[in-house]
Amino acid sequence: MKSRLASLECARCGNQHDAGKLQHRCECGGTLLCRYDLDPLDLDEVRQRPADMWRFRELLPVEGEPVSLGEPRTPLLTVPKLSKRLGVETYLKDDGPLPGGTFKARGAGIGLSRAQELGVDRVVMPSAGNAGGAWSLYGARAGMHITVTMAESAPAANQTEVEAAGGELVLIRGTIADAAVRAREIADETGAFLSATFSEPYRLEGKKTCWLEVFDALGDENGMRLPRTIVLPVGGGVAAIAAAKAAEEVIALGWTSDPPPRLVGVQSNGCCPIVRAFDAGADEVEPWDGEAMTIAAGLRVPAPSEGDLVLKYIRESGGRMVAVNERAIVDAVWDLASTEGVFACPEGAATVAGASILAEVGDLQGPVVLYNTGSGVKYVEALKAFG
Ligand SMILES: Cc1ncc(COP(=O)(O)O)c(C=O)c1O
Ligand SMILES: [Zn+2]
Repeated sequence: MKSRLASLECARCGNQHDAGKLQHRCECGGTLLCRYDLDPLDLDEVRQRPADMWRFRELLPVEGEPVSLGEPRTPLLTVPKLSKRLGVETYLKDDGPLPGGTFKARGAGIGLSRAQELGVDRVVMPSAGNAGGAWSLYGARAGMHITVTMAESAPAANQTEVEAAGGELVLIRGTIADAAVRAREIADETGAFLSATFSEPYRLEGKKTCWLEVFDALGDENGMRLPRTIVLPVGGGVAAIAAAKAAEEVIALGWTSDPPPRLVGVQSNGCCPIVRAFDAGADEVEPWDGEAMTIAAGLRVPAPSEGDLVLKYIRESGGRMVAVNERAIVDAVWDLASTEGVFACPEGAATVAGASILAEVGDLQGPVVLYNTGSGVKYVEALKAFG
């Protein structure tokens, strides 16, 4: 099993970059996407490998021994009561069981493994919270120095996680946008590798593994099956682009003959710059001007660095963006836990609120996969305070 990584392609201008070298963005400022040799690959053989995040090695950029914390293939649960209420066949992909309790383990495990094999020994990144925690844990495992810039308002659980793992925590007055400015300065001052969202091409590939697992779990002995609709939380939008990219690649490999899924991105109405652009029919996402206020800390991203690209992927999938309110997010956390037994993070629970809005107007086609990006355990204080 060897990586089939062939090149890095700029999502903006299409220029190709050397995949064997450590890269950031294209000279034009565009984000780079990993491109693979997608000649036929035997799915039956792949399915005989251990059921973990590293199963689809050919479609990952990591060549050598990865830095791993034993990432299991996470459950794709049926949610019978919710399916009945929404009126369509619905599943919940639950990434709560990953190291650090969120899907950020996928981006950290694969992003850090690739960066390390390309010579990086020091990383700096801005984070809404969970990514910083995950990179610090993987950094501890790898013996790598990790600096995380984070808004002072980021959840205490994430701040403690970074510090416990020996990461260097730099708290910033302001939002993740201000943290991003500081991270760039630290990268310039220290020579640390800047691993901000979309500023390097490897993290996204980790997030892709979630969707490869989902498509495989829905499939049968004849191949993979794609859901008609994927409903996911959108902060920076990495998970959304990763879902589209995973579908593109399995279709190209001939592992399914299904059409690509419709992507529905959910944001909180306390910070929903991409919803606002979608509703306005705009091609460009303007920064959120108000205070970025939501209990779903991962969605406090007022100026997503590749917002326009996320919008493009959502539109091209025939999907849409939807905003939900704070009360609906918290109610959905309780609802999922009490009806289906899943204690979801607010970001993940927001997908239930978003799917309900679409079901009400008859705009939800099954099979649907809702994405719970992490465990509610990391949010108990905020949930308790909300009441
Ligand atoms: C739990 C959780 N869900 C969702 C998101 C948003 O993810 P993305 O940046 O891929 O849109 C984050 C980001 O911090 C997060 O921590
Ligand atoms: Zn470019």
